[in-house]
Amino acid sequence: MDAPVRGRRLRDLRNAFTLPPGLAPANFPATPAGSSATELATQLARRIDPTFTWNDLAWLRSLTRLPIVLKGVLTAEDAARAAEAGVVAIVVSNHGGRHLDPSVTAIGALPEVISAVAGRCEVLLDGGIRRGTDVLVALALGARAVLVGRPVL
Ligand SMILES: Cc1cc2nc3c(=O)[nH]c(=O)nc-3n(C[C@H](O)[C@H](O)[C@H](O)COP(=O)(O)O)c2cc1C
Repeated sequence: MDAPVRGRRLRDLRNAFTLPPGLAPANFPATPAGSSATELATQLARRIDPTFTWNDLAWLRSLTRLPIVLKGVLTAEDAARAAEAGVVAIVVSNHGGRHLDPSVTAIGALPEVISAVAGRCEVLLDGGIRRGTDVLVALALGARAVLVGRPVL
């Protein structure tokens, strides 16, 4: 939920990023190998729905008994609302800072989220976890677990 619109990837534009020959995104047939950052961004933006609201989460909840994990929570208010909406877990995340440079950090938001959730659902965290001490800090602040993105890549 932390990316209702796609960020402007200035570094990709400056570096004239293109998909390497022979590598095309499987889910985006309109962006073949060799596509530029702008072409990729255009295709991706078409697939993002910025109108998602809490009502849509309630609708999703009504459709399934599967556990729902809500990713991208950064405030106490949203955390409390997510817990009330019946999610099994939230991921405190600012998308690895990839969409909005001056976003608050996930680790900075964690204490208020833990306090607001008050044990009603699990709280996970991602963004900037690079070494064991990062994991320990997150767990010490109350996260159940951490996730990693770019270190895997
Ligand atoms: C190449 C790439 C693609 C990503 N795609 C998505 C995505 O489709 N949906 C999403 O919620 N987060 C996406 N993310 C964000 C990650 O899920 C995660 O929040 C972030 O990478 C965590 O920060 P870290 O890379 O510092 O560990 C993506 C991250 C990367 C690097």
